[in-house]
Amino acid sequence: MRTVVTGGAGFIGSHLAEKLLLAGHEVIIIDNFFRGLKSNLAGILNHPGLRLVEADIRERSIWPGYLDGADIVFHLAAQSNVLGAVHDLKYSFETNVIGTFNLLEECAARKVRQFIFSSSREVYGEAQELPVTEQHPLLAKNAYGASKAAGELYVRVFQNSGQLNTVIFRLANVYGRRDFNRVIPIFIDNCRKQEDIKIFGGEQVIDFVYVGLITEAMIRAIGRDDLFGTVLNIGSGSGTTLYQLADQIIRLTGSESKISVLPARTVEVVRFVADTTLMEQRLGISRPENPIGHLEEITADGE
Ligand SMILES: NC(=O)c1ccc[n+]([C@@H]2O[C@H](COP(=O)([O-])OP(=O)(O)OC[C@H]3O[C@@H](n4cnc5c(N)ncnc54)[C@H](O)[C@@H]3O)[C@@H](O)[C@H]2O)c1
Repeated sequence: MRTVVTGGAGFIGSHLAEKLLLAGHEVIIIDNFFRGLKSNLAGILNHPGLRLVEADIRERSIWPGYLDGADIVFHLAAQSNVLGAVHDLKYSFETNVIGTFNLLEECAARKVRQFIFSSSREVYGEAQELPVTEQHPLLAKNAYGASKAAGELYVRVFQNSGQLNTVIFRLANVYGRRDFNRVIPIFIDNCRKQEDIKIFGGEQVIDFVYVGLITEAMIRAIGRDDLFGTVLNIGSGSGTTLYQLADQIIRLTGSESKISVLPARTVEVVRFVADTTLMEQRLGISRPENPIGHLEEITADGE
């Protein structure tokens, strides 16, 4: 199968590309290295099934040649960072909304067979109740969530008009090797440097989910006609407070770091736990017993 992974040099995309190649797929990665790194692909750069293309999804002209004959497009390229999106509204809008729209049009025109969109739990905004089901209204609280919600609406339009077969995954907070500048890698870095761990507000309840579960969900969606038009939360289904997270990372790293609590940042969603019923039923993926159970290996290997 020929698969295109936009954002494939990023954190989740690089793990997905590895898994796809292992399963025998041909993989074309499109990435502008805005946040992605060639080193993320170190293990697969020389793989004969991989084609790495440095290109920007904001440029309409890049697509011919890559989408023709593609069985599936995994669309991950985005300004993926909440604070980054808030600080650079233009980039996040042009990439996450216009880039997504352009790609949808190109995929439809080139008869791509399946389109999988990486959306985010941020589309829900502050949860009315936990756990959050896929039926929860989209009340995005920040520019990142708004850009993902807009992307989703266009995905639905292409689905509903019969132009494309799509699946939308609303990812919870993903963690694993190669991630950076998000809460888990920041806390690990703080602990290694014996710096204070800063918690903003302290009320947070976060659904952390290991990257391996995300890539498994994506792989399981390939070729599944029965999922076309579906929206699925992908998470652990459990909430972890930032105090629990910090305590665990301090313990695993043997650090002397202390926790300091600062005022809350208003753009951030405070509480989210995914209702994973659909993920379990439709993809056959179970909720992990310990959502942050992979911290041990991540803190142990120095990445
Ligand atoms: N990591 C999470 O916790 C999380 C949660 C919810 C949703 N998501 C979504 O999943 C996807 C992957 O996230 P990630 O954590 O791997 O982020 P990431 O930033 O590591 O990966 C995104 C990739 O997109 C590339 N990119 C950005 N703008 C581009 C452009 N204009 N043209 C081409 N490439 C571009 C970046 O260089 C990067 O490699 C994103 O769409 C993100 O919004 C991630």
